[in-house]
Amino acid sequence: MTHRFPLSGEHCPLMPTYGPPAVMFVRGAGTELWDDEGKRYLDFLCGLAVTSLGHAHPAVADALCEQARTLLHTSNLFATPVAPEVAVAIDELIGGGGQVFFCNSGAEANEAAIKLARKWGGRGRHVVVSAYGSFHGRTLATLHATGQPAKHEAFQPLPEGFRHVAWDDLDALAGAIAPDVVAVLLEPVQGEGGVNPATAAYFQGVRRLCDERGLLFIVDEVQTGFARTGRWFGFQHFGVVPDVVTMAKALGNGVPIGACWARREVAAAFRPGDHATTFGGTPIATSAARAVVAEMRRIDAPSAAERTGARLVAALRGVAGVATVRGLGLLLAVELDQPRDAKAVADALLAEGLVVNAVTATALRLAPPLNLSEEHLAEGVAILATVLASGAGR
Ligand SMILES: Cc1ncc(COP(=O)(O)O)c(C=O)c1O
Repeated sequence: MTHRFPLSGEHCPLMPTYGPPAVMFVRGAGTELWDDEGKRYLDFLCGLAVTSLGHAHPAVADALCEQARTLLHTSNLFATPVAPEVAVAIDELIGGGGQVFFCNSGAEANEAAIKLARKWGGRGRHVVVSAYGSFHGRTLATLHATGQPAKHEAFQPLPEGFRHVAWDDLDALAGAIAPDVVAVLLEPVQGEGGVNPATAAYFQGVRRLCDERGLLFIVDEVQTGFARTGRWFGFQHFGVVPDVVTMAKALGNGVPIGACWARREVAAAFRPGDHATTFGGTPIATSAARAVVAEMRRIDAPSAAERTGARLVAALRGVAGVATVRGLGLLLAVELDQPRDAKAVADALLAEGLVVNAVTATALRLAPPLNLSEEHLAEGVAILATVLASGAGR
């Protein structure tokens, strides 16, 4: 990498919130990326489950260009035509009966859900219970909702009103429901926590508990939403309907956008002035989302993710050095045989032209495009086989 500005160290113009970058990417097309030296990579991570239709998708690029020439932004003081259209599409994909608030990221979608729950619950009912190992964002409230105490330490005091329980443990959840609790917040697959899918029994039990105790069931679909797991939304694997659903990442295929959906009766708790964001539902971001949803519907993205996910899992299980594979659809964790350091393996894969990340010390996360071709699937698995056979990470 040769750069005009240093990308790490004290003269770097960017705050050191991310580690020193190994590669600078300058171009992408579908599953392929190219760095600033012209080297080609296969992207099996999609910018952390964001570019689910692949890089520089023509339908998204055309929508952005068209909208950029028409109207970029007017604020939420006025109506624009695209946001309601996308809200209707999201409502249809979830199953109907709800309303949408648009924002710009996953953390903001969860922040909106937390505020909505507090407004719905009224004074004295404000606690949100989430699971250890979860990830819900980096704002102060969503950081506290995130069930990873080590991430809290440096930022105390965090906003109060969050409690954590063991993942996939209904008794622990039932025991945590005091009169001050208003909602339960869970991911259908804990993504950042290591790609740990929930079970139907757990989600159905949570739904029952929420109904019995008068709580909202909020499902965080920021990483799993928009077909990633083989359903439009991850909760649709489990035969439940949440009260609130949050989403972001794949909705814009790389254009920043988030959304919080809630059942109409719950959404009605928000009155004008309760919540807002300048860029929420702006024409440029929602035009990308409209193109994404249309393209995902056209290719039947949930079926593609389920079908290609099954092929990828079967191929990965045949690779020497892979101990187990878990996940749903095309959100997968590859547990490596031990001893092997997953970060060192991810670095070695990057050097060989395959982009993945180490989701735990022993597992790689794979989240390739939902429209991954057979050729690219085989090429990616072959790179992994070669790198593991070379003893990487030992
Ligand atoms: C499940 C989940 N929720 C929330 C977030 C936060 O989203 P953002 O980084 O867009 O704020 C993430 C990000 O990885 C996530 O995976």
